[in-house]
Amino acid sequence: MSDPICDRPFHCIVAAPALAQGDCTRIEHLTIRIANHTPDSPVFLAPMAGITDLPLRTLVRSFGAGLVVSEMVGSQEMVQAKPSTRAKAELGLGVEGTAVQIAGREAHWMAEAARMAEAGGARIIDINMGCPAKKVTSGYSGSALMKTPDHALSLIEAVVNAVSVPVTLKTRLGWDDAMRNAPQLARRAQDAGVRMVTIHGRTRCQFYKGSADWSAIADVVAAVDVPVIANGDIVDAATARQALSQSRAQGVMVGRGAQGRPWQLACIAADLGRTPAPEIPTGAALAELVAAHHDAILSFYGHDLGLKNARKHLGWYLEAAGQGGHPMRRQLMTETRAARIRPLLHDILTGSADQPAQEAAA
Ligand SMILES: Cc1cc2nc3c(=O)[nH]c(=O)nc-3n(C[C@H](O)[C@H](O)[C@H](O)COP(=O)(O)O)c2cc1C
Repeated sequence: MSDPICDRPFHCIVAAPALAQGDCTRIEHLTIRIANHTPDSPVFLAPMAGITDLPLRTLVRSFGAGLVVSEMVGSQEMVQAKPSTRAKAELGLGVEGTAVQIAGREAHWMAEAARMAEAGGARIIDINMGCPAKKVTSGYSGSALMKTPDHALSLIEAVVNAVSVPVTLKTRLGWDDAMRNAPQLARRAQDAGVRMVTIHGRTRCQFYKGSADWSAIADVVAAVDVPVIANGDIVDAATARQALSQSRAQGVMVGRGAQGRPWQLACIAADLGRTPAPEIPTGAALAELVAAHHDAILSFYGHDLGLKNARKHLGWYLEAAGQGGHPMRRQLMTETRAARIRPLLHDILTGSADQPAQEAAA
């Protein structure tokens, strides 16, 4: 069944209830070229430490995403760590459509980490200048670099000069309201060779408070010729369209909006007329998808750490399915036998757990 106005399946409208009729025109300024990469979708997955690991990135990519970005890795830590297959997988080295994100405050570590990532097969290197966490900014990394733009530039130049793959930058509007210098920083980064800039529409001092200011991203778009990606509070097609029209950015990056909804990026891209609409699983199909994601997490991290890391995803899936308050939620979240997760998910997500015993037995 499809929507007669924009010929897209109704489930995309369900995912974007605020989308008004007539909003489903194709937005034309969404052409992204990152050096010789041309993503087939203008909707990217944001890096989220502890969340967007290899299993989630793989799942999101299986639905469709123009680009996924690995979780931030400290440049010095990366260079000094012993190379392992696991670390390689974590970073997504060599995985198509994956950018590897590095952070740091010393040019030689940043350059060396970029070189290592490229040698390991990284297709795109992203520099983190947006992380607001105190333990990162107190080491003058992440968004703290916006306070010292000359130093930030020296890091960008070191990375660009160290590798031949494209280098991109992810940052915020500025340090605080008195220092909203993203347009100037982006322009200097472009002149130094950066091929794409992603802007989270908040200052560092806002952390995640308030709402993202998408119209302020328009100043960055006006300052550069490279593609700009708008980020912050984009959770569905309606917010993606608002962000794109207010910012005039060429694409959007979605983080928290993909939690419990790995298909959401593909649904947004379909609404924008870029890719076919994904099939959104419900009921037994959703239970199977979540169980398979759970299995992938356990095989990636091992049983104990896997169970722990998987719990937050289970919670997000239940909330996204409207089952956040299900009476069996606690049982699912505290279950330590991996083999019990699949049947529990089926019971909760197909509604079979809600049926009285004799009805289920009939
Ligand atoms: C738990 C968490 C971890 C994050 N880790 C990173 C990171 O490693 N690198 C980065 O550049 N941004 C990181 N971010 C910021 C996101 O990439 C994104 O900019 C922010 O969440 C706003 O987008 P959203 O509203 O779509 O989530 C993180 C955000 C969250 C919530």
